[in-house]
Amino acid sequence: SRTAVVIPAAGRGVRLGPGAPKALRALNGTPMLIHAVRAMAESRAVSLVVVVAPPDGAAAVKTLLDDHALPERTDFLVVPGGESRQESVRAGLDALPPGFDIVLVHDAARPLVPVDTVDGVIEAVRDGAPAVVPALPLSDTVKQVEPAAEQDAPEPVVATPERARLRAVQTPQGFDRATLVRAHESVTGQVTDDAGMVEQLGLPVVCVPGHEEAFKVTRPLDLVLAEAVLARRRA
Ligand code: CTP
Ligand code: MG
Repeated sequence: SRTAVVIPAAGRGVRLGPGAPKALRALNGTPMLIHAVRAMAESRAVSLVVVVAPPDGAAAVKTLLDDHALPERTDFLVVPGGESRQESVRAGLDALPPGFDIVLVHDAARPLVPVDTVDGVIEAVRDGAPAVVPALPLSDTVKQVEPAAEQDAPEPVVATPERARLRAVQTPQGFDRATLVRAHESVTGQVTDDAGMVEQLGLPVVCVPGHEEAFKVTRPLDLVLAEAVLARRRA
């Protein structure tokens, strides 16, 4: 069974601050999206990568892919994204040709995920799990609060979930293709990851080990960390 990856890269990156769309920002001179595409194409199991570009930036992303060295055994498609991450992933799924039974969804904003993590996710889907997410234990204790209406006002704590039972989930998340398509067709309300939609269908989702270097570049400090990780790899 062949594996395709959908890379949602259509976000603006508001939390990163003003500048180009997040996926097009450089990390040590190379756009974040190119790092992410290479991280996926590095897996021998991956034969197609669908990049979901900013709505007005599909042509620019195509040029970017043409201008960077990428493995020849992998095919690339570029489609325009939507207003929400969910819509962008949907656009990527709609563009998938037949013949790919396994689909990974990977944030362009996680450019440094190691290939072993990618392969671990694919292997778990091949072994029969309809939905697989790479996950890590939490360092911080987490509080559930009653969100305050005013910015920075004190927020009452409602509960403290047992930390040992919590996981922070990353991407790539891996799916049986038909399951993911069905999940995207039937989902209601706000979901922040694709596996959450599969949970809504009542189907099992499993966690496999994630990796520290698969962290999401979200705020300015994450750019500093990402460049430090790249520098350490080259050393
Ligand atoms: N994404 C997307 N389409 C959107 C919104 C997000 O494809 N309409 C993608 C982003 O490009 C990113 C991934 O989803 O690769 C994870 O989203 P996030 O880290 O929240 O990125 P942004 O939405 O760009 O950042 P922010 O929320 O700070 O604006
Ligand atoms: Mg976002």
